[in-house]
Amino acid sequence: MMKFTGANILSVAQFDRDAIEHVFRIADLMEPYAHRRKRTRVLDGAILGNLFFEPSTRTRVSFGTAFNLLGGEVRETTGMESSALAKGESLYDTARVLSSYSDIITMRHPKAGSVSEFAEGSRVPVINGGDGANEHPTQALLDLYTIEKELQHHGRTIDGMHLCMIGDLKYGRTVHSLSKLLCAFKNVRLTFISPPELAMPDEIVALLENAGHQVRRVDNLSGSVDADIVYQTRIQQERFASQEEAAQYRGRFRLNSEIYTRHYKPNTVIMHPLPRDSRAEANELDNDLNQHPNLAIFRQADNGVLIRMALFALTLGVEHLVSRYDTDVIWYSDKANI
Ligand code: CP
Repeated sequence: MMKFTGANILSVAQFDRDAIEHVFRIADLMEPYAHRRKRTRVLDGAILGNLFFEPSTRTRVSFGTAFNLLGGEVRETTGMESSALAKGESLYDTARVLSSYSDIITMRHPKAGSVSEFAEGSRVPVINGGDGANEHPTQALLDLYTIEKELQHHGRTIDGMHLCMIGDLKYGRTVHSLSKLLCAFKNVRLTFISPPELAMPDEIVALLENAGHQVRRVDNLSGSVDADIVYQTRIQQERFASQEEAAQYRGRFRLNSEIYTRHYKPNTVIMHPLPRDSRAEANELDNDLNQHPNLAIFRQADNGVLIRMALFALTLGVEHLVSRYDTDVIWYSDKANI
């Protein structure tokens, strides 16, 4: 099994099935802390360097929240312009310096491969929070954890499921990482729906087929799709050469209540890594599904805290000590009922 203590988390390729399931079972143990029934000080005194050189809401804040929930402190750097990278400093030098100020570093950067390059200069573990269109391993783990939980309600498992991914499958790093992670499972059916120009890359399709999965790539949503999960994505406008080019694809694949009812079976779970583009010209996941019980997007985002807590506990080697340092929560919290 993968050795977690002291490891960098850079790619989903590091995870075999045992490692994935180990992360999930540690994430389960984090529920009382994330839901404010208990608090733990297991990382009291530890410092997270949370470096985000690209916009983020969920990943940045949930990394910070997860670390705080384990009792640690968070130091943030957001935006390239507010760091010495804007003065030409290398990723190696930045890593060498910041890693002496922190016990662990989380990082997002617009360039593919940049987080691995940074990790070479770091003296503490580095966790990839997204590097360009390449990978987003913690998102893939939380997505798969969500899939496992949602399918459990319907008596189904990841093995044998049918997953439909829709939208920008070329530039979407979450769909790349999730697809690669699925190679550790069995007999998965995948339907990739996108414009041909934004199709899932050939090398990822080859990985899936080599793992024994059935893959279908199509450019339109026609007829019914007997998917267990529909995973909708945003057009990644920040990765296109021009905004005009991105605009050609916005709004091409929408999901709303009427389309959902027409094309999917009644218990198909709806996922999206978020943010969803809610502008009228895009609106890939309509607000008219907000109250639908199969809409899992906010449960999915909540699970990010559990998964990131698990990864911090594992990489800092304290996963077996979390409950030893816990106490009851004494303030009012409605989350205790979650
Ligand atoms: N899913 C995700 O990566 O969201 P953010 O860009 O808000 O971090």
